Amino acid sequence: MLKIASKLPHVGTTIFTVMSQMANEYQAINLSQGYPDFNAPQPLLDLMQKYLNAGMNQYPPMTGVAYLRQQIAAKVDKLYSCTVDSETEITVTSGATEALFVAIQATIEADDEVIVFDPVYDSYEPAIQLAGGRTIHIPLDDKFNINWNLVRAAVTSRTRMIIVNSPHNPSGSTLKAEDLDQLEALTEDSDILVLSDEVYEHMVFNSLAHESILRRPKLRERAFVVSSFGKTYHATGWKVAYCVAPVALSAEFRKVHQYVTFTTHTPTQWALAEYMENYPEHYLELPAFYQAKRDLFVEEMKDSRFKLTPSQGTYFQLADYSQISDKSDVDFTHWLTQEIGVAAIPISVFYDKPTPSQHVRFCFAKDDATIRAACKILREL
Ligand SMILES: Cc1ncc(COP(=O)(O)O)c(C=O)c1O
Repeated sequence: MLKIASKLPHVGTTIFTVMSQMANEYQAINLSQGYPDFNAPQPLLDLMQKYLNAGMNQYPPMTGVAYLRQQIAAKVDKLYSCTVDSETEITVTSGATEALFVAIQATIEADDEVIVFDPVYDSYEPAIQLAGGRTIHIPLDDKFNINWNLVRAAVTSRTRMIIVNSPHNPSGSTLKAEDLDQLEALTEDSDILVLSDEVYEHMVFNSLAHESILRRPKLRERAFVVSSFGKTYHATGWKVAYCVAPVALSAEFRKVHQYVTFTTHTPTQWALAEYMENYPEHYLELPAFYQAKRDLFVEEMKDSRFKLTPSQGTYFQLADYSQISDKSDVDFTHWLTQEIGVAAIPISVFYDKPTPSQHVRFCFAKDDATIRAACKILREL
């Protein structure tokens, strides 16, 4: 018998795949996994066709198509007043998942400690484990904000990285300027790196600014900042993202990136670059676009027995179902998908320590008709 020692013995199939498969099997309206049920903008699809037909189909540069890196640098400058060298500080990756994995493999060594916040996006810990590091889980408070006293208490001489995610999946909370002040004070004069997962950077509501790490020169000099075109351009299946990091960190990042994927689908990069240049309104209008969907979802759920605190960012909305059922959130989402016909994501699976939850996460990146149809069913519970 072939003996295989698993390097990730506790890892199963991600909850997103499990719930999407269940939604398909039971023909439920899928508000679980985070992707739109509408298409990417037509001019972007046309540009993709243009570059496919123009023969942009061979390997692009390992760091990404220069035109795209220049557009990213221009956007970062415009939005966050941050000057980034597109040659040495931006790397295009095959999804944010790749960028997060690569940043961790490039910098975390055996027994290094990496601080994460629960509920935590599920790709971080396996990457830390594969690098030989230790994940230190700190729970967010009951409003899904960071308790900085807990962070200060958790920092040791082995702390190598802190991973932040704002806007936050699954809760929809956002980091505020005061949080960045705290992070800055905590990491100053240390060798602690920051990995900032900002894939929902263009989905921050109520006219609030996205508090990117790139706004803070002191944090930027120790940070990998990751964003995802899949989220921004309604094309999650394209798996194109990028990482901004200072020269020395980018150099280490690229050493790993070149042996993980080497590079990313060429015509997509060209299409995204031209679209960014010609249609900046797309990302400028995205907060309002998704806020309208959030507001529709919250309004449609007003007369339901779910309790909602409107999401501050992302395209997710948490809902407390304690008035409807005392099932665990995992059982509740299974029941909801299989018997009621709406799929959602349980929250407890994003915690290291068993944390009973009566919250589920709904994705509102859906056509208004889909949102209305789902809410009509949910209102009857
Ligand atoms: C917080 C967070 N980080 C990273 C990712 C992965 O993004 P990508 O599809 O670009 O790999 C997601 C996708 O859901 C996410 O929610």
